Amino acid sequence: MKKDFIDTNDFTRQELIDMIELSLAIKKAISKGYYPPLMKDMTLGMIFQQSSTRTRVSFETAMSQMGGHAQYLGPGMIQLGGHETIGDTGKVLSRLTDIVMARVISHETVIELAKSCSIPVLNGMSDYNHPTQEIGDMCTVFENIPRGKKLSDIKIVFVGDGTQVCASLGFITTKLGMHFVHYGPQGHQLNEHHKAILSENCKLSGASFEITDDRNSVRDADFIYTDVWYGLYENEMPKEERVQVFHDYQVNRDLMQLGSLGCKFMHCLPATRGEDVTDEVADSDASLCWEQAGNRLTAMRGLLVYFTRFREYASDIQIAAAKEELDSFICRRIIK
Ligand code: CP
Repeated sequence: MKKDFIDTNDFTRQELIDMIELSLAIKKAISKGYYPPLMKDMTLGMIFQQSSTRTRVSFETAMSQMGGHAQYLGPGMIQLGGHETIGDTGKVLSRLTDIVMARVISHETVIELAKSCSIPVLNGMSDYNHPTQEIGDMCTVFENIPRGKKLSDIKIVFVGDGTQVCASLGFITTKLGMHFVHYGPQGHQLNEHHKAILSENCKLSGASFEITDDRNSVRDADFIYTDVWYGLYENEMPKEERVQVFHDYQVNRDLMQLGSLGCKFMHCLPATRGEDVTDEVADSDASLCWEQAGNRLTAMRGLLVYFTRFREYASDIQIAAAKEELDSFICRRIIK
């Protein structure tokens, strides 16, 4: 059992399916009115070195829905990166919270944090990958598998910049046995490191992958997925430059028509409407991007429960004994 959720490649196909199915089972219970108190009395520390809407709100909502609490530790709000090392922060948070998530600028930061924490650490996105997005997206794919198809029949095409979301989509789809395509311009495609991982995943799962700038690769896609064209963090491209590089890779009606009949559109959001996707696609019946945003909450609940599942619960007898001991101390020594 791994303590931390840093990279889906650390887990087997079955473990990832367990995370997805647990997430969907909790979603189903909540949809019927049962909010399972599986995080009761637990606190999640949420470190953010970057801004976030979906990741922050979904983690916080997940904790409160399951009886726990989340503390937002935003940029500049804690000593991390200032007067305190990552290692010291990890040791301290391990004594003050029950589980930590971190959105970091550099992937090394979340790895170091996980090493120094004795409690589980969940990667809320780094410059390398976005594993909680992967679990949420697979919840959305599982809920929208085309009629008559199995996971191994599915073709999913990521269009545009080889961002960490693109890499992550490649990681999980090849792990689960799908056909993954990255259709993007040369110089912005997944690299040799990514290819080695995708190849390894494909060997184990029977999946396949393709990285190309050939528009024909989009044909017959069941899902067409994109992300912003900005580039990563400090490598953000100015608007004029990115439009020049990526203009053929906009997800618009013409591109969607290359997909299979019933092809769905996916986007991790935020989108830059008019650049990476047109309004008519983002707001169409084929668009799953709002379902995906909702399934970030689905995934966060599942992951929080999965990574705290060995929590020890006190028995009623132990709780009653602890209460009696404390009450007696207060009566004898404090109230007098
Ligand atoms: N997709 C995603 O991670 O969104 P946020 O940056 O708003 O968290």
